[in-house]
Amino acid sequence: MNESENILYNYKVVKQFTIMAVVWGIVGMLVGLIIAAQLAWPHLNFDTPWFSYGRLRPLHTNAVIFAFGGCALFASSYYVVQRTCKAPLAFPGLASFTFWGWQLVILLAVISLPMGFTSTKEYAELEWPIDILITIVWVCYAIVFFSTIAQRKISHIYVANWFFGAFIITIAVLHIVNNLEYPVYWMKSYSIYAGSVDAMVQWWYGHNAVGFYLTAGFLGMMYYFIPIQAERPVYSYRLSIVHFWALIGVYMWAGPHHLHYSALPDWAQSLGMVFSIILLAPSWGGMINGVMTLSGAWDKLRTDPVLRFLIVALTFYGMATFEGPVMSIKTVNALSHDTDWTIGHVHSGALGWVAMITIGSIYVLLPRLFNTKMYSQSLIYLHFWLSTIGTVFYITAMWIAGVMQGLMWRAMNDDGTLTYTFVEALEATHPYYIIRLLGGVLFFLGMLVMAYNMVKTIQSRRPCAEDLAHAHHFKQVMV
Ligand code: HEM
Ligand code: HEM
Repeated sequence: MNESENILYNYKVVKQFTIMAVVWGIVGMLVGLIIAAQLAWPHLNFDTPWFSYGRLRPLHTNAVIFAFGGCALFASSYYVVQRTCKAPLAFPGLASFTFWGWQLVILLAVISLPMGFTSTKEYAELEWPIDILITIVWVCYAIVFFSTIAQRKISHIYVANWFFGAFIITIAVLHIVNNLEYPVYWMKSYSIYAGSVDAMVQWWYGHNAVGFYLTAGFLGMMYYFIPIQAERPVYSYRLSIVHFWALIGVYMWAGPHHLHYSALPDWAQSLGMVFSIILLAPSWGGMINGVMTLSGAWDKLRTDPVLRFLIVALTFYGMATFEGPVMSIKTVNALSHDTDWTIGHVHSGALGWVAMITIGSIYVLLPRLFNTKMYSQSLIYLHFWLSTIGTVFYITAMWIAGVMQGLMWRAMNDDGTLTYTFVEALEATHPYYIIRLLGGVLFFLGMLVMAYNMVKTIQSRRPCAEDLAHAHHFKQVMV
């Protein structure tokens, strides 16, 4: 507990989630490195089922999205909701339960996925007993978050909370609907949906997991931590409200772009495409709002590596949300689908946007939580360059590989036979897999630097007394 303006904020759970975000980030990215190496050199599967690519890939996606991203979202939302509502977290016992419950979910994932237990739905692979645990933890999360808002001491609900709130409600709905399944025995179930209905529900879930888990929650971080770090109010509060409602209204309809040229009715595919193209507007509105918050203070970018993380994250967000609508156009998707172009798009969003905004926010949080300064600014600079160069290596390698694969697969001779065999395309991709691995190694090294800096910072902590400048600051941001 921490005292400021006579309010006892609950920082314990925020600290726990923050530290675990860094830990799970390292674990998830390490698994990413292993599968990247396995794609380049398949003998690294060692003929061992639990160490094989097929089992480690879902472990990677679950670890980075739900463990790393999830812990960062819990930490930041619990911090932001308290500070902006000027009220301590409601139900501290329940908040603590969400921490331990979420760690248990992650632990069960780390054990069950390599063992081969899977419901086979991408990003929803965990089997039914774990799904039930997730639902319980998530409902408790919603109770803590919304009760804190209900107990707020000021009438206004700051826009970051709108984004966190939408993320919490939507993920609950998506998780429950997509995971409706018949348990046949312990750790085995079948979806209640079948055929193209199953595919549509899955990608309604999958795309909105991107929209609400990997985007809305992190936009909540953006709307709080960029103004705080830049020491300026949000560029346009009005735009942030338009941004919120436009994003919420449009995202829900874009899922069918994952199912182009499939058995899904053609009209549904076209609907998904149209909504994806419209989605460019709110996405860029949000990005511009974040970046322009720096207007009049651009010089800060020269001296503040944390702000660099936050702003570069937004530029990658802009890139990914430009690329996504382009890839959703059916004729473009005919080339990009199933190639490494998709993987490049994913990681420009995942590394460039999700990881960078998280890293930047954690660097803002740590000194405030532990009432001290970051141990080393130079190490933050180093981390910034490792992450940025790593991301650029990763995504450019995948873009080149992806477009090359798409072109090689569709190339035809005059007599109608294929110009290249699949193996020829695979061999041509090999060097790019090595460059991707190198990019991943750089990004991963950056995370190790961060962990060291975090440990040293925590060791230098001073007994808690809230940083009043920060509270004062926030008043300015709110107006
Ligand atoms: C060191 C950093 C990372 C490395 C080396 C890495 C590597 C990989 C590899 C090799 C794949 C499989 C690609 C394929 O199927 O061809 C993958 C998939 C994926 N990764 Fe990462 N990754 C990293 C970080 C992240 C982070 C931080 C996130 C999310 C926040 C993320 C999200 C994903 C997702 C969602 C997929 C599945 C993509 C799809 O199915 O289209 N990754 N990653
Ligand atoms: C306007 C915003 C966006 C649109 C319209 C969009 C559109 C698309 C399209 C068309 C695909 C390829 C589907 C396929 O061929 O199978 C895709 C894949 C993907 N996108 Fe985006 N994207 C957007 C933003 C983002 C962002 C910000 C992220 C954040 C990390 C992201 C993460 C992903 C992931 C994880 C996949 C791979 C899904 C899979 O097949 O496993 N997208 N997106």
